[in-house]
Amino acid sequence: MLSYLHGFHAGNFADLHKHHLLVCLLSALNRKAKPWSYLETHSGKAFYALDSDQAAKTAEFEQGIARLWQAESLPDSVEQYLEQVRQVNPSGGLQQYPGSPALAAGLAREGDQLHLMELHPGEAQQLKRAFAGHDGVGVHHRDGYEGVMALLPPKPNRGLVLIDPSYEVKAEYDQVAAFLPKALKRWPNGCFVVWYPLLPAQRWKMMLENIRRTGIANILCSELQVGAAEEQGMYGSGMLIINPPWQLDEVLNTSEPWLTDLLAQRVGAERRLYWLAPPAGDC
Ligand SMILES: C[S@@+](CC[C@H](N)C(=O)[O-])C[C@H]1O[C@@H](n2cnc3c(N)ncnc32)[C@H](O)[C@@H]1O
Repeated sequence: MLSYLHGFHAGNFADLHKHHLLVCLLSALNRKAKPWSYLETHSGKAFYALDSDQAAKTAEFEQGIARLWQAESLPDSVEQYLEQVRQVNPSGGLQQYPGSPALAAGLAREGDQLHLMELHPGEAQQLKRAFAGHDGVGVHHRDGYEGVMALLPPKPNRGLVLIDPSYEVKAEYDQVAAFLPKALKRWPNGCFVVWYPLLPAQRWKMMLENIRRTGIANILCSELQVGAAEEQGMYGSGMLIINPPWQLDEVLNTSEPWLTDLLAQRVGAERRLYWLAPPAGDC
Protein backbone atom coordinates (compact mmCIF):
# COMPACT_ATOMS: atom_id res chain seq x y z
CA MET A 1 0.00 0.00 0.00
CA LEU A 2 1.55 3.28 -1.08
CA SER A 3 -1.06 5.90 -0.18
CA TYR A 4 1.28 8.04 1.94
CA LEU A 5 2.63 11.20 0.28
CA HIS A 6 5.13 13.25 2.25
CA GLY A 7 4.03 16.46 0.51
CA PHE A 8 1.15 16.70 3.03
CA HIS A 9 3.59 16.71 5.95
CA ALA A 10 6.87 18.21 4.68
CA GLY A 11 8.38 20.74 7.08
CA ASN A 12 6.18 19.74 10.02
CA PHE A 13 7.52 19.44 13.58
CA ALA A 14 8.58 15.82 13.03
CA ASP A 15 10.60 16.78 9.95
CA LEU A 16 12.37 19.45 11.99
CA HIS A 17 13.28 16.97 14.71
CA LYS A 18 14.41 14.35 12.15
CA HIS A 19 16.20 16.67 9.77
CA HIS A 20 18.01 18.72 12.42
CA LEU A 21 19.40 15.46 13.80
CA LEU A 22 20.29 14.28 10.29
CA VAL A 23 22.26 17.47 9.67
CA CYS A 24 24.08 16.91 13.00
CA LEU A 25 25.04 13.39 11.85
CA LEU A 26 26.19 14.47 8.39
CA SER A 27 28.15 17.40 9.86
CA ALA A 28 29.91 14.94 12.17
CA LEU A 29 30.86 12.83 9.13
CA ASN A 30 32.16 15.98 7.42
CA ARG A 31 34.59 16.59 10.30
CA LYS A 32 36.90 14.06 8.60
CA ALA A 33 38.10 14.43 5.01
CA LYS A 34 37.44 10.74 4.22
CA PRO A 35 34.37 10.34 1.99
CA TRP A 36 31.13 8.82 3.26
CA SER A 37 28.13 6.86 1.98
CA TYR A 38 24.53 7.87 2.65
CA LEU A 39 21.84 5.26 2.05
CA GLU A 40 18.13 5.88 2.47
CA THR A 41 15.35 3.27 2.44
CA HIS A 42 12.36 5.67 2.16
CA SER A 43 13.50 8.81 0.36
CA GLY A 44 10.38 10.65 -0.79
CA LYS A 45 10.80 13.18 -3.60
CA ALA A 46 13.41 15.45 -1.92
CA PHE A 47 11.90 18.88 -2.68
CA TYR A 48 8.49 20.04 -1.45
CA ALA A 49 6.74 23.22 -2.60
CA LEU A 50 5.12 24.89 0.40
CA ASP A 51 2.53 26.65 -1.79
CA SER A 52 1.23 23.31 -3.15
CA ASP A 53 -2.32 22.05 -2.56
CA GLN A 54 -0.88 19.24 -0.44
CA ALA A 55 0.99 21.60 1.89
CA ALA A 56 -2.01 23.97 2.08
CA LYS A 57 -4.42 21.17 2.94
CA THR A 58 -2.78 20.26 6.26
CA ALA A 59 -0.71 23.46 6.80
CA GLU A 60 1.52 21.33 9.04
CA PHE A 61 4.61 23.29 7.99
CA GLU A 62 3.18 26.33 9.78
CA GLN A 63 3.82 24.58 13.10
CA GLY A 64 7.28 23.55 11.93
CA ILE A 65 9.61 25.19 9.45
CA ALA A 66 7.57 28.44 9.31
CA ARG A 67 8.22 28.92 13.05
CA LEU A 68 11.93 28.28 12.67
CA TRP A 69 12.18 30.55 9.63
CA GLN A 70 11.25 33.51 11.83
CA ALA A 71 13.23 32.52 14.93
CA GLU A 72 16.29 34.33 16.26
CA SER A 73 19.34 33.37 18.36
CA LEU A 74 19.48 29.77 17.14
CA PRO A 75 21.80 27.15 18.66
CA ASP A 76 24.72 26.39 16.29
CA SER A 77 23.45 23.04 15.03
CA VAL A 78 19.95 24.43 14.38
CA GLU A 79 21.54 27.31 12.48
CA GLN A 80 23.45 24.75 10.34
CA TYR A 81 20.19 22.96 9.54
CA LEU A 82 18.35 26.20 8.74
CA GLU A 83 21.22 27.19 6.45
CA GLN A 84 20.45 24.08 4.36
CA VAL A 85 16.81 25.16 4.14
CA ARG A 86 17.93 28.66 3.06
CA GLN A 87 20.10 27.12 0.33
CA VAL A 88 17.00 25.77 -1.44
CA ASN A 89 15.19 29.10 -1.06
CA PRO A 90 17.55 31.48 -2.85
CA SER A 91 14.93 34.20 -3.38
CA GLY A 92 14.85 34.83 0.39
CA GLY A 93 11.25 33.74 1.06
CA LEU A 94 10.27 30.33 2.42
CA GLN A 95 8.97 28.60 -0.72
CA GLN A 96 10.19 25.05 -0.61
CA TYR A 97 11.30 22.53 1.96
CA PRO A 98 14.24 20.15 1.48
CA GLY A 99 13.56 16.52 2.39
CA SER A 100 16.27 14.21 3.69
CA PRO A 101 17.84 13.42 0.26
CA ALA A 102 18.14 17.15 -0.46
CA LEU A 103 19.79 17.77 2.92
CA ALA A 104 22.25 14.91 2.37
CA ALA A 105 23.05 16.18 -1.13
CA GLY A 106 23.49 19.70 0.25
CA LEU A 107 26.12 18.52 2.73
CA ALA A 108 27.84 16.01 0.41
CA ARG A 109 31.37 16.71 -0.80
CA GLU A 110 33.25 15.39 -3.81
CA GLY A 111 33.61 11.64 -3.37
CA ASP A 112 30.63 11.21 -1.03
CA GLN A 113 27.98 8.80 -2.35
CA LEU A 114 24.18 8.85 -1.99
CA HIS A 115 21.97 5.80 -2.64
CA LEU A 116 18.30 6.73 -2.53
CA MET A 117 15.43 4.18 -2.58
CA GLU A 118 11.80 5.12 -3.23
CA LEU A 119 8.98 2.71 -4.09
CA HIS A 120 6.14 5.09 -5.05
CA PRO A 121 6.31 5.46 -8.87
CA GLY A 122 5.44 9.16 -8.98
CA GLU A 123 7.70 10.13 -6.07
CA ALA A 124 10.55 8.03 -7.50
CA GLN A 125 10.19 9.76 -10.86
CA GLN A 126 10.42 13.20 -9.23
CA LEU A 127 13.40 12.08 -7.14
CA LYS A 128 15.17 10.90 -10.30
CA ARG A 129 14.43 14.20 -11.97
CA ALA A 130 15.72 16.17 -8.95
CA PHE A 131 19.11 14.44 -9.09
CA ALA A 132 19.49 13.84 -12.82
CA GLY A 133 23.10 14.48 -13.76
CA HIS A 134 24.30 14.76 -10.11
CA ASP A 135 27.58 12.91 -9.67
CA GLY A 136 27.55 10.58 -6.70
CA VAL A 137 23.75 10.30 -6.37
CA GLY A 138 22.00 7.05 -7.33
CA VAL A 139 18.18 6.91 -7.31
CA HIS A 140 16.53 3.50 -7.26
CA HIS A 141 12.83 2.83 -7.80
CA ARG A 142 12.58 -0.23 -5.56
CA ASP A 143 11.80 -1.50 -2.08
CA GLY A 144 14.07 0.35 0.33
CA TYR A 145 14.87 -2.53 2.67
CA GLU A 146 15.93 -4.80 -0.19
CA GLY A 147 17.70 -2.04 -2.09
CA VAL A 148 19.81 -0.85 0.85
CA MET A 149 20.59 -4.39 2.03
CA ALA A 150 21.91 -5.25 -1.43
CA LEU A 151 24.41 -2.37 -1.19
CA LEU A 152 25.85 -3.22 2.25
CA PRO A 153 28.67 -2.77 3.04
CA PRO A 154 28.90 0.32 0.85
CA LYS A 155 31.93 2.03 -0.62
CA PRO A 156 33.04 4.35 0.93
CA ASN A 157 32.78 2.28 4.08
CA ARG A 158 31.91 5.04 6.56
CA GLY A 159 28.53 6.72 6.66
CA LEU A 160 24.89 6.24 7.54
CA VAL A 161 21.59 4.62 6.62
CA LEU A 162 18.35 6.52 7.21
CA ILE A 163 15.20 4.41 7.61
CA ASP A 164 12.12 6.62 7.50
CA PRO A 165 8.92 4.64 6.88
CA SER A 166 5.45 6.17 7.18
CA TYR A 167 4.25 3.30 9.48
CA GLU A 168 0.84 3.34 7.76
CA VAL A 169 1.05 -0.43 7.83
CA LYS A 170 1.53 -1.78 11.37
CA ALA A 171 3.88 -4.49 10.08
CA GLU A 172 6.49 -1.79 9.39
CA TYR A 173 7.41 -1.71 13.09
CA ASP A 174 8.39 -5.39 12.86
CA GLN A 175 10.02 -4.91 9.47
CA VAL A 176 12.36 -2.25 10.88
CA ALA A 177 13.27 -4.38 13.90
CA ALA A 178 14.00 -7.38 11.65
CA PHE A 179 16.03 -5.33 9.16
CA LEU A 180 18.51 -3.82 11.64
CA PRO A 181 20.39 -6.91 12.93
CA LYS A 182 20.77 -8.27 9.39
CA ALA A 183 21.99 -4.94 8.04
CA LEU A 184 24.42 -4.45 10.94
CA LYS A 185 25.88 -7.88 10.30
CA ARG A 186 26.83 -6.67 6.83
CA TRP A 187 27.97 -3.21 7.94
CA PRO A 188 28.91 -3.31 11.66
CA ASN A 189 30.52 0.14 11.67
CA GLY A 190 27.64 1.86 9.85
CA CYS A 191 25.48 4.41 11.64
CA PHE A 192 21.81 3.34 11.33
CA VAL A 193 19.08 5.89 12.00
CA VAL A 194 15.37 5.10 12.35
CA TRP A 195 12.58 7.65 12.57
CA TYR A 196 9.39 6.65 14.43
CA PRO A 197 6.15 8.49 15.29
CA LEU A 198 4.83 8.94 18.82
CA LEU A 199 1.17 8.00 18.40
CA PRO A 200 -1.49 7.12 21.00
CA ALA A 201 -1.23 3.37 20.23
CA GLN A 202 2.44 3.56 21.33
CA ARG A 203 3.58 0.84 18.93
CA TRP A 204 7.06 2.32 18.86
CA LYS A 205 7.63 1.06 22.41
CA MET A 206 7.35 -2.56 21.29
CA MET A 207 9.57 -1.84 18.30
CA LEU A 208 12.27 -0.39 20.55
CA GLU A 209 11.97 -3.33 22.94
CA ASN A 210 12.34 -5.78 20.03
CA ILE A 211 15.43 -3.91 18.83
CA ARG A 212 16.88 -3.84 22.35
CA ARG A 213 16.38 -7.60 22.65
CA THR A 214 18.50 -8.26 19.54
CA GLY A 215 21.54 -7.37 21.67
CA ILE A 216 22.67 -4.54 19.37
CA ALA A 217 24.87 -2.15 21.40
CA ASN A 218 25.34 1.61 21.24
CA ILE A 219 21.78 2.82 20.58
CA LEU A 220 20.81 6.40 21.41
CA CYS A 221 17.17 7.57 21.26
CA SER A 222 15.96 11.15 20.93
CA GLU A 223 12.24 11.86 21.38
CA LEU A 224 10.51 15.20 21.07
CA GLN A 225 6.88 15.76 22.08
CA VAL A 226 4.97 18.87 21.07
CA GLY A 227 2.42 18.22 23.82
CA ALA A 228 0.91 15.53 26.00
CA ALA A 229 -0.57 12.52 24.21
CA GLU A 230 -4.13 13.06 23.03
CA GLU A 231 -6.69 10.51 21.86
CA GLN A 232 -5.73 10.93 18.22
CA GLY A 233 -2.86 12.16 16.16
CA MET A 234 0.91 12.26 16.27
CA TYR A 235 2.12 14.09 19.35
CA GLY A 236 5.83 13.49 19.01
CA SER A 237 8.72 12.27 16.93
CA GLY A 238 11.46 9.77 17.72
CA MET A 239 14.88 9.03 16.28
CA LEU A 240 16.89 5.92 17.12
CA ILE A 241 20.59 6.10 16.29
CA ILE A 242 22.83 3.03 16.28
CA ASN A 243 26.57 3.85 16.45
CA PRO A 244 26.11 7.60 16.95
CA PRO A 245 29.13 9.84 16.45
CA TRP A 246 31.15 10.88 19.48
CA GLN A 247 29.52 13.69 21.48
CA LEU A 248 26.25 13.67 19.52
CA ASP A 249 24.43 13.52 22.86
CA GLU A 250 26.15 16.73 23.97
CA VAL A 251 25.18 18.55 20.77
CA LEU A 252 21.56 17.40 21.14
CA ASN A 253 21.44 18.37 24.80
CA THR A 254 22.35 21.90 23.73
CA SER A 255 19.97 22.25 20.79
CA GLU A 256 16.91 20.06 21.33
CA PRO A 257 15.54 21.80 24.45
CA TRP A 258 15.51 25.01 22.37
CA LEU A 259 13.84 23.19 19.47
CA THR A 260 11.23 21.70 21.82
CA ASP A 261 10.30 25.17 23.13
CA LEU A 262 10.04 26.43 19.55
CA LEU A 263 7.78 23.58 18.43
CA ALA A 264 5.58 23.24 21.55
CA GLN A 265 1.86 23.23 20.72
CA ARG A 266 0.31 22.73 24.16
CA VAL A 267 1.00 21.61 27.72
CA GLY A 268 3.22 18.53 27.97
CA ALA A 269 5.88 19.44 25.40
CA GLU A 270 9.13 17.74 26.37
CA ARG A 271 12.13 15.88 24.98
CA ARG A 272 14.07 12.83 26.09
CA LEU A 273 17.51 11.57 25.20
CA TYR A 274 18.46 8.13 26.48
CA TRP A 275 20.59 5.09 25.69
CA LEU A 276 18.35 2.18 24.67
CA ALA A 277 21.54 0.12 24.72
CA PRO A 278 24.88 1.43 25.99
CA PRO A 279 28.05 1.37 23.88
CA ALA A 280 29.80 -2.05 24.04
CA GLY A 281 31.98 -2.26 27.14
CA ASP A 282 29.96 0.48 28.84
CA CYS A 283 27.45 -1.77 30.66
C1 LIG B 1 8.06 9.54 5.36
S1 LIG B 1 8.27 9.52 3.63
C2 LIG B 1 9.96 9.85 3.40
C3 LIG B 1 10.39 11.24 3.75
C4 LIG B 1 11.88 11.50 3.58
N1 LIG B 1 12.67 10.46 4.21
C5 LIG B 1 12.27 12.83 4.16
O1 LIG B 1 12.59 12.88 5.37
O2 LIG B 1 12.28 13.81 3.43
C6 LIG B 1 8.19 7.81 3.28
C7 LIG B 1 8.39 7.47 1.80
O3 LIG B 1 8.61 6.07 1.69
C8 LIG B 1 8.02 5.59 0.48
N2 LIG B 1 7.88 4.14 0.66
C9 LIG B 1 6.90 3.44 1.28
N3 LIG B 1 7.20 2.13 1.35
C10 LIG B 1 8.43 1.99 0.77
C11 LIG B 1 9.32 0.89 0.58
N4 LIG B 1 8.98 -0.34 0.98
N5 LIG B 1 10.50 1.12 -0.01
C12 LIG B 1 10.84 2.37 -0.44
N6 LIG B 1 10.05 3.46 -0.29
C13 LIG B 1 8.86 3.26 0.33
C14 LIG B 1 6.76 6.39 0.37
O4 LIG B 1 6.32 6.42 -0.97
C15 LIG B 1 7.21 7.77 0.88
O5 LIG B 1 7.63 8.57 -0.19
